[in-house]
Amino acid sequence: MADAVMSPCSGDTRIAVRTTPGEPGVCVAVRAPAKLNISLSVGLRRPDGYHSLRSLMVPLSLADELEISPGGRGVELSVQGPRAGQTPAGPENLVVRAGEALARRTGRAIGVRVRLTKRIPVGGGLAGGSADAAATLLGLNAAFELGLPLDELSAVAAELGSDVPFCLYGRPAWVEGRGELIAPFDGRLPELWAVLIFPPVSVSTAAVYAKLDALRAAGEPVDGPRTRVGGLELFNDLHKAALAVEPSLARVCEQVGQASGDPTVLVAGSGATLFALFDKKDHATEWERRIGARLKCSAMTTAVWCG
Ligand code: C5P
Repeated sequence: MADAVMSPCSGDTRIAVRTTPGEPGVCVAVRAPAKLNISLSVGLRRPDGYHSLRSLMVPLSLADELEISPGGRGVELSVQGPRAGQTPAGPENLVVRAGEALARRTGRAIGVRVRLTKRIPVGGGLAGGSADAAATLLGLNAAFELGLPLDELSAVAAELGSDVPFCLYGRPAWVEGRGELIAPFDGRLPELWAVLIFPPVSVSTAAVYAKLDALRAAGEPVDGPRTRVGGLELFNDLHKAALAVEPSLARVCEQVGQASGDPTVLVAGSGATLFALFDKKDHATEWERRIGARLKCSAMTTAVWCG
């Protein structure tokens, strides 16, 4: 696979720029879509502690929203929306860290107020924090007219986390390396809908990767379920490890299986979100209704964004 392939960020439909007559600067609204791993192969642990990956990743309609306006010192973050209660608004938030990383990279003093509407669950394996970080990089690049091309933003993104370069790219892609090598998905994806199930737990990504190493070292089978939807192969090498780290996920998978034998349910990324994929919207919504009546956790149907 080639190095990161990035399109220029002008014309990005995720960004809307607003100027107000008589007021200095521009306000920027950026959509930050969640991601889903359709397939995820995980290699052995590398000397730097990360694992080599090969994953088909897609953005979802489920998205956070950022409104960025110039002013203040550094990044002043406020969080609202259905997942605000789970989201730290301090210096540990990836929005703040993305602003600081971009200021270091460009040598510019960046003073902004960011209003984050949080809808993507935290610690859910849907790259919510990474999506917000990528949206911050795109938004600040536009608001301050920094003119950084996407491959330069991607280098900053990779410092912030393994999923941030994909979130910056924002379209279906094959992802390799530890997450920083992006190649566009070379084909047309069919229309796809994901039913996301949100067990009321969150899972540490590092703990799931460590469990995968431990299972492999012990010679345990680590293969999770496999299935095909819309001509795509679905599997996740982290599935079994996530269930081993958080056994309540295995119980939710069992309950889903009892409520409806089909389709196969997989862990999203490193979890804790579970998902099933459909190529017909009414099948997805009907399945969501059927399992929703039996499960204690919430669920939603969201479209895969095919680009
Ligand atoms: O890069 P990020 O901070 O999202 O990664 C969180 C943790 O997940 C890492 O510290 C590492 O333990 C694990 N990880 C990994 N290999 C990857 C991505 C993440 O081992 N390719």
